[in-house]
Amino acid sequence: MQALGIDIGGTGIKGAPVETNTGKLTSERYRLLTPDPSTPKKIAATVAEVVRHFDWRGPVGCGFPAVVKHGVVHTAANVSDKWIGADAEALLSQATQCPVTMVNDADAAGLAEMRFGAGRDQDGIVLVITLGTGIGTAVFVSGHLLPNTEMGHIEVEGKDAEEWAAEIVRKQQKLSWEQWGKQVDKYLRTMERLIWPDLIIVGGGASKKHGKFFPYFTIQTPVVPAEMLNEAGIVGAALATEPR
Ligand code: BGC
Repeated sequence: MQALGIDIGGTGIKGAPVETNTGKLTSERYRLLTPDPSTPKKIAATVAEVVRHFDWRGPVGCGFPAVVKHGVVHTAANVSDKWIGADAEALLSQATQCPVTMVNDADAAGLAEMRFGAGRDQDGIVLVITLGTGIGTAVFVSGHLLPNTEMGHIEVEGKDAEEWAAEIVRKQQKLSWEQWGKQVDKYLRTMERLIWPDLIIVGGGASKKHGKFFPYFTIQTPVVPAEMLNEAGIVGAALATEPR
């Protein structure tokens, strides 16, 4: 089975065809810039361009940085708020002329990590956290996803956790790895107290450089870096097309 996986992010929209039983990309990924403003109309046109690039006619899965329930978008922390209430699956299916499934981006990345990456064969409670422009979370209970957990927005030190521990905060505030690592640790410890996971998988751009900030963690729960790196979003979006 193949599906086209598309990862819609704050800066880029990336896609590739994926073999869903192995998690392998069958061609090189194609990336376009996320349009600004990131309105439904403009993003739909960009997604359609990715579909056309691969001359794709089959199922398409999209990961999107918001709550997506039954194909409808309900939040918009880092995208145009014109998305709120939009029936994204209907809009994108029409724009691409393909059947489109849309899910939250962190849920997509989590699905990929659990099937093919750092969460393979992991039982119990697994928390997947993506640190990027925002903070995304995906919670798995014995391999089953609890979708749309928005725990990147819990309060830490009186702030939305995202404004404290997202990767963009490190870059914008020019924090050292140590400073940022300690802030991420504070966030992880808050999560630990709330859901008592058995394993935490940290993904997002910085996961490649885990050696620079994991050493500052004092959390008790085992923490491992994501393994699928920047392919997790694409592979997981493709997996989301499988019947649930
Ligand atoms: C959004 C989430 C998303 C995360 C990562 C947050 O701001 O609220 O839905 O998963 O960013 O992109």
